[in-house]
Amino acid sequence: MTQYITLNTGARMPIVGLGTWRAASGQVAEAVKAAIGAGYRHIDGAFVYQNEDEVGEGIHAMIDQEIVKREELFIVSKLWCTFHEKSLVKGAFQKTLSDLRLDNLDLYLMHFPMGFQPGDNIFPVDKEEKVIPHHSNFLDTWEAMEELVDAGLVKAIGISNFNKDQIEALLNKPGLKYKPVTNQIECHPYLTQEKLISYCHSKGISVTAYSPLGSPDRPWAKPDEPSLLEDPKIKAIAERHNKSTAQVLIRFHIQRNVIVIPKSSNPNRIKQNFQVFDFELSEEDMRTILSFNKNWRGFAMEWGSKHKDYPLNAEY
Ligand code: A2P
Repeated sequence: MTQYITLNTGARMPIVGLGTWRAASGQVAEAVKAAIGAGYRHIDGAFVYQNEDEVGEGIHAMIDQEIVKREELFIVSKLWCTFHEKSLVKGAFQKTLSDLRLDNLDLYLMHFPMGFQPGDNIFPVDKEEKVIPHHSNFLDTWEAMEELVDAGLVKAIGISNFNKDQIEALLNKPGLKYKPVTNQIECHPYLTQEKLISYCHSKGISVTAYSPLGSPDRPWAKPDEPSLLEDPKIKAIAERHNKSTAQVLIRFHIQRNVIVIPKSSNPNRIKQNFQVFDFELSEEDMRTILSFNKNWRGFAMEWGSKHKDYPLNAEY
């Protein structure tokens, strides 16, 4: 059993999805199969994760075995930053679609508001390791994404890593045809995002939380950084509910009406991360967890700090 969030298009999006960032080659298809077998109906991917062909393999294996129908699945991907130039958007989308071997997607997100220099190098940086920007702007990129909806290639479009001012600019864009259905942002008890969530919800935009477990596998993690999964205060709450710390970290979002996409490649943990619909955190638990906020980010995106559309200089 899963729960759904109703998007501003009227479509329903499963509140828990499988994250696939850093799902290693050779394990991705198995992870997707394990997730669908465990009841997940939402898979979150992206071109830049470079594993969409394997995600597709997992999806098709489960459809072929008649365990699930395509229309029961909610498949998400993201437009990478080197394809922000209007003329490049459709080709980038088609590459994802053909890797996944699907006819359409349920949701396509602009991965970042920042456009990068187009080319074969998907992460072009200068001598200081700062990303090389492109002169495109995300309002134009959005128009090209709207055309994908009109062409029947994707049911909904959204954004990721946008701050409030950037969302406002998009909502105020003259001629805006489709509002974003979700803003996918880093969110967990050390970065509770109260202002941005309440702004998005007030505009009818859902929020999707990435790195709900604090992304312990991020390659740039430093030993002195805080660890959500090892936090004794969160562990104590989990023990009271006879649940794991990860399950509490996931449940926290569900009770805020926030969509959440924990990543795992391990079949047992994939199952565990979905067993979050059979318990409830109390209001006091929720208040306690919210009090752990320290505006700590696993994804500070220092590489983008000089970009005109870097999102993290704003208060929220
Ligand atoms: P693994 O794939 O081996 O399960 P996030 O979603 O915040 O990015 O976190 C993903 C990381 O957390 C991965 O390294 C994943 O490892 C690990 N992880 C996922 N589920 C759990 C769990 N239930 N308990 C502990 N670690 C988990």
